[in-house]
Amino acid sequence: MDMIASSVEESVMKTCWRMGLPLLLLACHVAPAAAVNLVQGQQLYNLHCAACHGPRGEGVMPEAPKFRLGERLEQPDMMLLQSVRSGKKSMPPFFGILKDAQILDVLAYVRTLR
Ligand code: HEC
Repeated sequence: MDMIASSVEESVMKTCWRMGLPLLLLACHVAPAAAVNLVQGQQLYNLHCAACHGPRGEGVMPEAPKFRLGERLEQPDMMLLQSVRSGKKSMPPFFGILKDAQILDVLAYVRTLR
């Protein structure tokens, strides 16, 4: 649990280095402040994401990435957060439905499905 949380935090910090200032300020402000909560991440995933991405990340909807196989997960959390916030193709936007911290919890859980 601690190892997962610290590797997420590490990848967030790496991302912050690489990204532009506005996103950097936002990301560094939001993310490392709160430790990730995998239990909440799992609950939210099952509620909001599993219908398309599959309960085990196997991908139910044909175009949905299979997280189990690590698809799309080579991207840093801040990129994935942006996609989930704004939606992508047939994925609806979750802005206003989930808070950034909640999406980061879900993404941390998603990374455990590999
Ligand atoms: C209605 C079906 C649907 C739901 C619900 C859904 N997704 Fe997706 N998701 C997709 C599809 C389809 C794509 C691929 C979009 C594309 O072709 O780039 C995708 C892509 C993604 C990606 C990769 C984005 C990228 O930049 O490559 C992530 C991460 C993701 N979804 C996470 C989530 C999370 C987290 C939730 C729940 C909060 C969720 N999805 C809910 C259908 C869905």
